[in-house]
Amino acid sequence: MNILKAENISFGYIEKKPILKGLDFEMNNSEVVGLFGDSGSGKSTFCKILTRFIQDYSGKITINNNEIESGFNPVQLIFQHPEKVMNPKWKMNKIIRESWNPTDDILDEFGIKKDWFDRYPSELSGGEQQRFSILRALNPKTQFVIADEITTMLDAVTQVQIWESLLKIAKEKQVGVLVVSHDYNLLNRITDRIVYLDNINNI
Ligand SMILES: Nc1ncnc2c1ncn2[C@@H]1O[C@H](COP(=O)(O)OP(=O)(O)O)[C@@H](O)[C@H]1O
Ligand SMILES: [Mg+2]
Repeated sequence: MNILKAENISFGYIEKKPILKGLDFEMNNSEVVGLFGDSGSGKSTFCKILTRFIQDYSGKITINNNEIESGFNPVQLIFQHPEKVMNPKWKMNKIIRESWNPTDDILDEFGIKKDWFDRYPSELSGGEQQRFSILRALNPKTQFVIADEITTMLDAVTQVQIWESLLKIAKEKQVGVLVVSHDYNLLNRITDRIVYLDNINNI
């Protein structure tokens, strides 16, 4: 079992205004954990710290008590807006293969059609783009995915399809999933337990 741990995390964008203070969090790779909190409470900031997009925090992030080495990060972030993290000049083929070469089974599971690979991100719907960004995060070396409001912008049907596929694959591959959302009903439906940012953030 792999354990992702955040210990005594403190961070503020402006020095005198901390967003996170002495935050402790832990999950293992067989769990689906919800992270709930009000808008502006620091959820996305914490996601970026967990996945090294923010590095100037204090505290420690470890997997099995080892600090995470540089190179491919086994803790992958999936963003709310997939189009903002894809190079608009690259076709989907290149965008995916920058991370890994997915098998046909997994493409089928996410309902990704082969001909979409020859398109630019702007030639896909929001739901289709998000399927690709989830797929990109599911590199075989990934141990945890941090899903930051990943279906907030999508319609209810697409939302259900995406969660079914992601949670099925995560279970198969023993990837832990942190589902970050301000939608309590969603977290209640799909996660094993819910953590409240207020309770783990000693601010
Ligand atoms: N790059 C940034 N520079 C300065 N302040 C920021 C930045 N990103 C977020 N913030 C502020 O940090 C706080 C927490 O934001 P965020 O982590 O996005 O919250 P949440 O995801 O819970 O809505 C907010 O007050 C937000 O305005
Ligand atoms: Mg956010």
